[in-house]
This record gives sequence, structure tokens and C-alpha cells, in this order.
Amino acid sequence: METNQLELWNRAAERYIQDDSQLTIFHRSIYMPVIESMIGNTRDKYVLDLGCGIGEFTKKLALDGAFAFGIDGSVTMISKAYKEKQDLSAMFAVVDLTHPLPIKSRTIDIVVANMVLMDIPDIEICIREISRILRHGGVFLFSMTHPAFFCSEWECEESDPRAYKKVSDYLNETCEPVFFWGETVHYHRPLSTYFNILEKNGMCVLSLKEPVPDLNGMGEDSSTRYHMRIPSFIVLKTALLER
Ligand SMILES: C[S@@+](CC[C@H](N)C(=O)[O-])C[C@H]1O[C@@H](n2cnc3c(N)ncnc32)[C@H](O)[C@@H]1O
Repeated sequence: METNQLELWNRAAERYIQDDSQLTIFHRSIYMPVIESMIGNTRDKYVLDLGCGIGEFTKKLALDGAFAFGIDGSVTMISKAYKEKQDLSAMFAVVDLTHPLPIKSRTIDIVVANMVLMDIPDIEICIREISRILRHGGVFLFSMTHPAFFCSEWECEESDPRAYKKVSDYLNETCEPVFFWGETVHYHRPLSTYFNILEKNGMCVLSLKEPVPDLNGMGEDSSTRYHMRIPSFIVLKTALLER
């Protein structure tokens, strides 16, 4: 299953590109504002957007004055990113994050990975590479589905179809197919796995957020209410320690 992941993402890419459903927009509105508030000033910084998809965030970084690079393993995603980059300085390349990155050591100020790490079979290589390319004191931010809750089903109680979740097998590292835009593979790891690999590679966690929707003007209904009780996403800001 593992060797196929990029092929699966490439197949899913067309539907991912066309998906402007309310749910996708709503989900992005939960974690992207947190990433944007955590990343701080990016002007004149070298910023790498890992698993950039069609490069929307990479382009925003370029607009904000960063030297922005987006890399993704899907040719379809990167072609779309390139086609629509207009005269922005953002750069894009097809790169598999499970291999060493074609980037010089200690050249990048900020690495960001939005909703990518849980799609990658081997994050040891990926995080080791992030640690290698970051300048000392450089920052690595990432968002992903919340490992504590993603793999468990909602349970119903009285009139509430999403009253609570039963969590089992949290500590086991597993992988399972998911079908959001066609089949891809979700790699579940407990949070301690992420923290241990970051620590092993000289990185420390500066901030951890479990974002919830901004209900301002949105009204609390059944589709938003459960996000307020159990976080669907997690966002971390880490830094490479000075050595
Ligand atoms: C959920 S999408 C997120 C895309 C983008 N960061 C965003 O927020 O819209 C996950 C992305 O990870 C990419 N991806 C998955 N496995 C990868 C790998 N091994 N190497 C590079 N990219 C990968 C996919 O092609 C896809 O674009």
C-alpha cells in the first residue's frame, strides 16, 4: 500500500482541485487562520511549503514578500500550481517527501506542511530532512487531522448523532484507506511518535493548538457544534534548536 501513496494522490488530485465544497472551505477556515497567525512575518524569508498541493498557501507567502517554494509529490497538483502562478515569484517542484530533499542544508527559515504528515508513510526521513535544511532557530509549522480522534467513529446519543467518540487502538501505528477525493492512505501515529521524532532531530515544540471554528456570524448548528467539543485538527509550531 505504501509504495502507491503518491500514485493515489495523483489520481485524487483532479477531484481535490475541483473540491470547493462548503465542508472543505469550512475545514480550512479552522486550521489556516492558526497557521497564518503562528507563522509571523515572512517578508524576505526563505519559506518551503511541503506537500503544497495546488500551491494556494505558497502563492500567499510569495504575495507577502517571502521567497516561497512549494513542493508536492503529485505532478497534477504541481502543474496546476504552476499554471496559475501568474507573475508571482513562487516556485514549484515535484518532490517525494519520503526521499532526501533536493535542498541545501541550513538554507530555509520556515518550513510549513499543511495536512500532509498523516499522508506520509515514513515521517522519520521527512522530519530529518526538515531539520537538515532549516537554519538554526528556523521554524517548522504543521497542521494535520488530530491523531487522538481522527480514526474513531462518532457515537450517537438521544437526538445528537455526534455525541461522543469511542477511542481505541490510539497507541498503535496503523494505516487505512480514506476516501475524501478518491482513495488515499491515512497513517495514524500517536502524538508521542511525532514529538519523539522531532526531539530526536533537535526540534522543540513552541506551541500546540487544537483549533475550533470561529462561530462569529456563523451560528452554532449541529455541523459546527461537534468541532467545539472534540478537535478535528491540531497545529504545531516547532523550532530547530541552536546547536
Ligand atoms: C490534503 S493535501 C494538502 C495540500 C495542501 N497543503 C493544502 O493545504 O491544500 C495533501 C498533499 O500531500 C501530498 N503528498 C502526499 N504524499 C506525499 C509525498 N510522499 N510526497 C510529496 N507530497 C505528498 C499530496 O499530493 C497532496 O497534495
